[in-house]
Order: sequence, then structure tokens, then C-alpha cells
Amino acid sequence: MSATIVVVGAGVIGLDVALILAENGYGHLTTVVAQHMPGDTSIDYTSPWAGANFSAISGSDKNALIWDKAGYQRLMRLASTEGLESAIRKTQSFEYWDEKPAEQKLSSLADYLEDFTVLPSEKLMPGVAYGVSFTTVTINAPRHIQYLKNKLELLGVQFFRRKLDHLDHAFLSDRTKVVFNCVGNAARHLPGVQDSNCFPVRGQILLTRAPQIETNVMRHGKDYETYIIPRPYSNGNVILGGFMQKNNGTGDTFAHEAESIWQRTSTLEPSLHASGTEVLATFAGLRPGRQGGARIELEEAQAGRIVVHNYGAGGTGYQAGLGMGMEAVGLALPHLSKTLSGQDVVDLHAAEQSARRANL
Ligand SMILES: Cc1cc2nc3c(=O)[nH]c(=O)nc-3n(C[C@H](O)[C@H](O)[C@H](O)COP(=O)(O)OP(=O)(O)OC[C@H]3O[C@@H](n4cnc5c(N)ncnc54)[C@H](O)[C@@H]3O)c2cc1C
Ligand SMILES: *[C@@H]1O[C@H](CO)[C@@H](O)[C@H](O)[C@H]1NC(C)=O
Ligand SMILES: *[C@@H]1O[C@H](CO)[C@@H](O)[C@H](O)[C@H]1NC(C)=O
Repeated sequence: MSATIVVVGAGVIGLDVALILAENGYGHLTTVVAQHMPGDTSIDYTSPWAGANFSAISGSDKNALIWDKAGYQRLMRLASTEGLESAIRKTQSFEYWDEKPAEQKLSSLADYLEDFTVLPSEKLMPGVAYGVSFTTVTINAPRHIQYLKNKLELLGVQFFRRKLDHLDHAFLSDRTKVVFNCVGNAARHLPGVQDSNCFPVRGQILLTRAPQIETNVMRHGKDYETYIIPRPYSNGNVILGGFMQKNNGTGDTFAHEAESIWQRTSTLEPSLHASGTEVLATFAGLRPGRQGGARIELEEAQAGRIVVHNYGAGGTGYQAGLGMGMEAVGLALPHLSKTLSGQDVVDLHAAEQSARRANL
């Protein structure tokens, strides 16, 4: 294994970084090392638990808006070109807020979301201050990360299962020049990172079968989040949520929370009451929250090697992951082109050719 570049983590954030590396011709030089891989489930592996939808949820912070925009554009393109394989579908979305969001955020959304329409206030239900409709992407999260892994393998990326006891152990060999740290919630405790700004944000969701639901609906309250997300290519499955519990790391699920989700979602979308609707399962997942937002930062390690941190995606790893990946890889590119050895450059040419053949 060449392992010139090591990505730690095989959640959507690590996989998106590996994809951007492969698109830049570095697939054959990249190894993804992770304790959990697509197909696994664990409360320590957030990515399989996401809904997932693209939602106007990020704050008004400038970085988050830029990452969302880049992510949205790429996911919409993917939905058009490889929707079935990547398990992404364009879907109409309705979003409601109990308090009107900041102007800056609304104008940024209006600028890039397709079919963006402000709903007339007389059509809003009681308690809602503002509502919009637009075309979103819904993602079948477990299938999408499996798709990314398969695609990366075709592009020469290697996968290697290992739990690291320290971030430094990600420098797998003398040839390892760059490490991307994409460990999600583990950033809080992993030696070599131990970022005390990180905290889990617990969510509970219901997996249902309700094929009559074809649109995405969200209501953002002052202290609650309610959403209905059809899961594409899934035989009529719909995710109902949810909860956003800061600093709560329990993977247990609770009947009273399931009841609250059902009450809120069936009020928002009465057609859920149709007789065929089945509740299949209840899950909990932990979003990798971080005070101050995601950390994308280059850090010099010993002997001219570098670490690029990319974690803390919170509730938006699917929608912002590609934008975050572009920024993280962008930080490493000057370093990579400067430090690659002769052999690496030969590998790189082979990688570029195979990427071109794979039609990237
Ligand atoms: C209920 C719920 C709904 C969500 N809905 C959406 C949504 O609609 N849209 C959206 O954009 N986002 C959504 N999210 C958020 C999204 O799921 C996360 O932002 C995203 O999955 C985070 O990915 P990650 O790669 O950072 O972390 P993870 O998926 O947790 O991956 C971390 C990786 O690091 C590895 N790792 C950790 N420590 C080590 C170690 N010591 N050694 C080796 N490997 C290690 C793990 O094994 C794993 O492979 C939702 C989340 C939840 C819980
Ligand atoms: C819907 O999207 C938002 C933002 O990406 C996310 O926080 C929320 O948890 C999502 N819901 C589900 C069920 O995935
Ligand atoms: C976490 O959330 C659950 C469910 O809401 C609750 O019962 C539990 O007390 C919470 N734990 C902490 C540490 O807040």
C-alpha cells in the first residue's frame, strides 16, 4: 500500500475527501483507514443514521453557506447523472420556520436553490412565521456511503480497517505525507486531537413505510425540529424526526420521543395517518457538533508532514461534505505537489489516466 495520503474515517466526510482527492488524480496514493466502514452500524458511526435531506438549516455563518452551496450543486448534478447508483433523488421540499430566519441566509438560499419560492403568508399554518418551497435532494444515507466506497475502490483508493489509538498512528509509513483527520465525534477524545469544543447532538428518528409521502417537509421551531423525509430508492420508506439534543451521547431510544415525533409529523403532514403507514423501527444517532462550527484547518506535523483536520459537521455532513472536502483538499494541494517523490509522480500519472477512463 502506498499510503502517501491517509484519510482517517470512512463516514461521509472522509469519503467525500477521498472523492475530491481522486478527482484531482490522487486516488492511487490514497488510503482510507477507519474503525467503521460503510455497511457497519454503531452509535460511534454517525453517517448511516442520517435522513438525509438538504435543508436550509445551517446558520448564517459565511463558511457554512459556502459549503452548503457547493454541496447542493454537486448533489443536484449527481441526482441527474447517477441518481439510482448514488441513491440521491431530487425532491420538492417545504420548509417552515416559527421565527423568520436572518435576511442574509434567506438571500443566499434564494440565490442558489432551484425553484425557490416564498410561500404566501395566508397559506401558512398557525404558529409558522415564514415558509419556502424549493427542489431539494434526498439521499438514502446507508446506500450513498456504500456507493462512495465502491466508486473510490474503482479509482484506486484502498480501504484498511483499523482503530487508531492516536492520530499520529495515521502516518502509516515513511511515505505518508498528508493525513486528513475525519473522525467525527471521536475528535473529542482521540489522543492527538482532543478538541474540547466537540460535543454530540443526539437525534432520534422513526423509520416508516409510507409510500404516499413524496415531498420533504420540515418545521424549525424555537426548541424543536420536525421533519419528514422520503428515503429514495427504498420501497416507500420515510424518515420522521426528530430531536436535536446538544451534549447528549446516548444511543438508546425512548418510546415517549417516538410518540412526540409521530404527533408532530402527523400534524405537519396529515396524510401520514393513511391506513397503510407502518412504523418499522426507531433509531438514535449522534451528530458531530462543534462549538464554532466545523474545523477545517492545516496543521504542520514533524518532518514536513501535514495534518488537515476536517470534522465537526454537525447536522449537515451530507449536504456540506463535498464543499468541506474541497476546502480541506485545497489546503493540502500545494503541499502535495511540492513533496511528492519521483515514484509518487509516476503513480499519479497512472491515477490520472484511470480517473479519465472512469470518466470523472
Ligand atoms: C438523525 C440524524 C439525521 C441527520 N440528517 C442529516 C441530513 O439530513 N443531512 C445532512 O447533511 N446531515 C445529516 N445528519 C448529519 C450527518 O449524518 C453527519 O454530519 C455526518 O454523518 C458526519 O460524518 P462524519 O464522517 O464526520 O462522521 P462518522 O460518520 O461518524 O464517521 C467517523 C469515521 O471515523 C472513524 N473513526 C473514529 N475514530 C477512529 C479511530 N480512533 N480510528 C479509526 N477510525 C476512527 C469511524 O470509524 C468512522 O469511519 C444527520 C445525523 C443524524 C444523527
Ligand atoms: C434534515 O436535514 C437537516 C440538515 O441537513 C438535518 O439536521 C436533519 O437532521 C435532517 N433530518 C433527517 C431525518 O435526516
Ligand atoms: C439524553 O436524552 C435522553 C432522551 O431525551 C434523556 O432521557 C437523558 O436523560 C439525556 N441524557 C443527558 C445526559 O442529558
